[in-house]
Amino acid sequence: MKEKIEEVLKQAKQFKIASKEDVEQFRLKFLTRKSDINELFARLKEVPTEEKRNVGQLLNQLRSDLEKIFDDAKLKFDANEEDFNYDLSLPSFNFSTTGIHPLSVVKTELISIFLKMGFDVSEGPEIEDDWHNFSALNFPENHPARDMQDTFFIENEISLRTHTSSVQVRVMENKMPPIRTISPGRVYRNEAISSRSNCFFHQIEGLYIDEKVSFADLKQTLFLFVQEFFGEGTRVRFRPSYFPFTEPSAEMDIYLGTESDADKRLTKGTGWLEILGCGMVDTAVLKNCGIDSDKYSGFAFGMGVERIAMFKYGVKDLRTFFENDTRFLEQFYAV
Ligand code: PHE
Repeated sequence: MKEKIEEVLKQAKQFKIASKEDVEQFRLKFLTRKSDINELFARLKEVPTEEKRNVGQLLNQLRSDLEKIFDDAKLKFDANEEDFNYDLSLPSFNFSTTGIHPLSVVKTELISIFLKMGFDVSEGPEIEDDWHNFSALNFPENHPARDMQDTFFIENEISLRTHTSSVQVRVMENKMPPIRTISPGRVYRNEAISSRSNCFFHQIEGLYIDEKVSFADLKQTLFLFVQEFFGEGTRVRFRPSYFPFTEPSAEMDIYLGTESDADKRLTKGTGWLEILGCGMVDTAVLKNCGIDSDKYSGFAFGMGVERIAMFKYGVKDLRTFFENDTRFLEQFYAV
């Protein structure tokens, strides 16, 4: 019996499989009901009891060996034979890896400018509690100011952060001034999805707190930033605005002019493009975060990365940043 098993295995190994037909021949010879192995299984009952176990194992092993030869050969010859005419010396295919995502490019560039000015980078959680996203930032409870940022609530008091100002609260709670930090990150707002807005986007917010920080420092810092990022000589203007956490508050625009159609469209005919919100940190916010507001003052600002990337690269639809269509992303390969 043992010899017969070895004999079958030997035959199977020597069986030449060079085509799809050979694979079928192999199956007919070794794996059908009429094949030797089936006969061997049938003869198992003649084997003395004390050897049954051993012979049974050998037979099972034989069957799995035969099946393996068959499966491997089938895999090989079922596919188009030409596919296996490999020339391993050829260079590999160039599949698309695209470049660095445009939002990352812009984010990195924005961050590097502020790093040069002495800011550091801080990050925080995207799932945030009411205190860090709203209350500490002077949004009164049930106050309509909370509607400014349509919030995705997860459960009572817990939501997806609507801005990275929440990270600034965390920094202020944990660090004594002087504080100079920027907080990049993804934020979420329950907005209708369109070419200009999405339910999530990316922000970079900045915070500067020290003794005697004034609005002039705010203007100078942001002016320098604009010269670095948008080019020497770019004009800026500040318009009064409102945020619960800053007083006074402003929005900053840069001047593009109305010469080209694109600039005209982008600026709605005014020549000015809004870039960011900013202001002097409200004394109530400093107090909420345990900072002595008699001794320290500070400014904060926040901007949307998509908005700036859209302007920089002439992207008309914000959604294209998130579709991961390689035809779009490849265009930034050399950036
Ligand atoms: N947090 C504001 C927003 O998300 C931006 C901002 C930050 C405004 C800091 C002023 C100061 O719209």
